[in-house]
Amino acid sequence: MKRKSIGCSHEMPVQPAFIVGTYNEDGTPNFAPITWVSMTCEKDEDYLIVISMWGTKMTKQNTLRNRKLSINMVSKDMLELMDYFGQTSGAQGMKKDLSYTYSQGECVEAPILDMSPWVCECEVQSIVNTGESDTFYCRVKNVQIDERVETSGWGIDLTLLNPVIYSGSYHSIGQYLGEIGDFYIKEQNESSCQ
Ligand SMILES: Cc1cc2nc3c(=O)[nH]c(=O)nc-3n(C[C@H](O)[C@H](O)[C@H](O)COP(=O)(O)O)c2cc1C
Repeated sequence: MKRKSIGCSHEMPVQPAFIVGTYNEDGTPNFAPITWVSMTCEKDEDYLIVISMWGTKMTKQNTLRNRKLSINMVSKDMLELMDYFGQTSGAQGMKKDLSYTYSQGECVEAPILDMSPWVCECEVQSIVNTGESDTFYCRVKNVQIDERVETSGWGIDLTLLNPVIYSGSYHSIGQYLGEIGDFYIKEQNESSCQ
């Protein structure tokens, strides 16, 4: 493999793009794409979503104030909506140039986008400030998923959710490849040496 150095670039840690839903001080909903999203686990099933916001955006101010938010996965049919939400600020009033519907979360007081096939309802547990960014460690209170998607196994077939992936440019994902253990059969490859 012959590589070239391209300096400090931050595009590669990617995952599905998400739109964060929060309530403004006047009770109107606000939505903005936030793609610096990751995950950690305290213990057992205590998962935390880790989400980082830069600057003074409305979504960040709302999250600092309310400590409640929804994380709405962006499917391909939501691309126009995400592109719009990302180029406008709730500081200029409610974003309503495009039509969309929202509801209240089932477990958390945060607005959720009705068209998203995967929604996570979260409460902020702790915040780490690094310069102009704040990173929120969020307790997962509830996850809603398109009821047509099979969820009895370990993984979710992302092709069914059709997520948008953002690396600085928008992408969609390719085909479903398989599960852990479909490619390397651990038992067959285990050494018999003690
Ligand atoms: C695809 C996309 C991804 C973005 N990801 C982030 C992010 O991870 N963190 C962040 O602070 N801002 C991110 N932004 C910028 C905010 O979405 C943007 O500043 C938005 O206008 C904020 O709206 P608000 O002021 O209503 O919160 C992203 C924008 C786009 C278009």
